[in-house]
Amino acid sequence: MPDRRPLVAGNWKMNGVAASLTEIDAIGDGLIDPPCDVAICPPATLIAAAVERAKNTPLMIGGQDCHMAEKGAHTGDLSAEMIADAGGKLVIVGHSERRTDHGEADALVRAKAEAGWRAGLLVILCIGETEAERRAGDTLAVLDRQLAGSLPDGADAHRLVIAYEPVWAIGTGLTPSNDDIQTAHAHIRQRLVATVGNNGAAIRVLYGGSVKPGNADEILPLPDVDGALVGGASLKAADFLAIVAAA
Ligand code: 13P
Repeated sequence: MPDRRPLVAGNWKMNGVAASLTEIDAIGDGLIDPPCDVAICPPATLIAAAVERAKNTPLMIGGQDCHMAEKGAHTGDLSAEMIADAGGKLVIVGHSERRTDHGEADALVRAKAEAGWRAGLLVILCIGETEAERRAGDTLAVLDRQLAGSLPDGADAHRLVIAYEPVWAIGTGLTPSNDDIQTAHAHIRQRLVATVGNNGAAIRVLYGGSVKPGNADEILPLPDVDGALVGGASLKAADFLAIVAAA
């Protein structure tokens, strides 16, 4: 079995102002010989400052989204190269909030993932079913469709991480059963191997959706779960560090 070092990444979403950088300090200081890779993706306004604050710690800083182009007339957008220039090491693409709020479809997500690679960033590509899709029994088919549409050619474990985030579990306090999480992750891994070959088995698959200190101990040890993408519980250093400790 390939050695997959877990990754616990925090997605601050549209939360965080300069005063929140004390949480970056506390997370960085709390990472002494961490059992996994650890990252925080703050809002774009804080990326450079967070990089500076985390510079002598194992904490990586990343972006929450990027434009597919390197530069140009795209008011309000941010390129992957800009994230890298600010010292970011990774970028999230295809988050369900981007898909919903901004109508992002699989082909665009794929282009954004390619942009992240072009800039030398580790790409966390998010997929996951809605509540209606789950009720219709379509979860695995949705994951297949999203992977087929958004996974660029040339994926490997050094530059790609998949995050399975059931849309109905995000910010709701609800999570799938451990069996359902394991089934989805094993299925994603099988698709990765079928698509990119044996190297696909080394690509990390994170779980995201209402991960908290209280459930991380159950979710993170599942055999095909290689870490977590954490929203709300990443805003407070103590909660986030408790999840890191469970990895
Ligand atoms: P919550 O952990 O707040 O449910 O958010 C998950 C998420 O969307 C991370 O990207």
